Amino acid sequence: MINRTRRLRKTANIRRLVRENKLTVDDFIYPIFIEEGEHIETEIKSMPGIKRFSLDTVSKELDELTALNIPAVLLFGIPSEKDDTGTETWNDDGIIQKAIRYIKKEYPNLYVITDVCFCEYTNHGHCGVLNDLEVDNEATLVNIAKQTLSHAKAGADMVAPSGMMDGTIITMRAALDKEGYYDLPIMGYTVKYASAFYGPFRDAADSAPSFGDRKTYQMDPANRAVGRREAAFDDAEGADILMVKPALSYLDIVSDLKNNFDHPIACYNVSGEYAMIKAAAEKGWIDGERVMMESLLSMKRAGADIIITYFAKEAAKILKRSYT
Ligand code: PBG
Repeated sequence: MINRTRRLRKTANIRRLVRENKLTVDDFIYPIFIEEGEHIETEIKSMPGIKRFSLDTVSKELDELTALNIPAVLLFGIPSEKDDTGTETWNDDGIIQKAIRYIKKEYPNLYVITDVCFCEYTNHGHCGVLNDLEVDNEATLVNIAKQTLSHAKAGADMVAPSGMMDGTIITMRAALDKEGYYDLPIMGYTVKYASAFYGPFRDAADSAPSFGDRKTYQMDPANRAVGRREAAFDDAEGADILMVKPALSYLDIVSDLKNNFDHPIACYNVSGEYAMIKAAAEKGWIDGERVMMESLLSMKRAGADIIITYFAKEAAKILKRSYT
């Protein structure tokens, strides 16, 4: 036999030499939940190791992230007041705005990305303004512009809209440019599916819809081609980074975007993906550490340049001791 692929698998060193993809700490964005109030440090039951913090307790988390050299955080806010349109999202003294100012002041080297959405801020838990039982796209865009500018004014480094309204990126770009924020990038939650993998997040962020589901705005898990259309629109509207969410069950989409677009591609390794690995590891059914590293690596192999993951700290620690 001339072709024997095992020749290049013989030892750890030759495997190192021919390895196509490597994880590094530079790949990671760590999501953080920040709740209005004081002395809050609440464990999220379905996400072991992940907590909700108030601004007076979050420094230990931020210290750890900077010590591990994790480049960026993605902020989610949990307000004390909710209403039917989510007006708190554009309150310049809202929880996210305060969090941005605090982090940029105390941790100037940490890159701060904000989730731009309404579901944590509306009393019905949907991602925008309701018109009857439907989320009204155009009315929501008006509020998205307000929320975006409020995050920009507070000092966000990047904004990331997750609501899946059509025309979101161009609305945000226009609002930002009009106020002079030409250089503030937008990461689109470009291809976001209506997924059951968000279950634990909705506990964490207190954002489950009180009725119905998100199937009229988030994508149908059965569909692939429309993911490329979504990406083409976000590209045309000026998105700087294209994201796929969830990650593991949608690696075909990550690969489609990588092959068809020249933007950096991000994927969101979501709460349910985290919870499954944690739960099976806790039961002793899998080696949690190795399954975590293998699944993160599979996202890179599929084409992700950036991975948003609750595993960021654990993976960074392993990478520090040089994982082979
Ligand atoms: C919406 C939003 C969601 C997530 C991030 N942003 C939930 C949803 O669309 O219902 C999910 C993230 C995760 O599951 O880790 N603001």
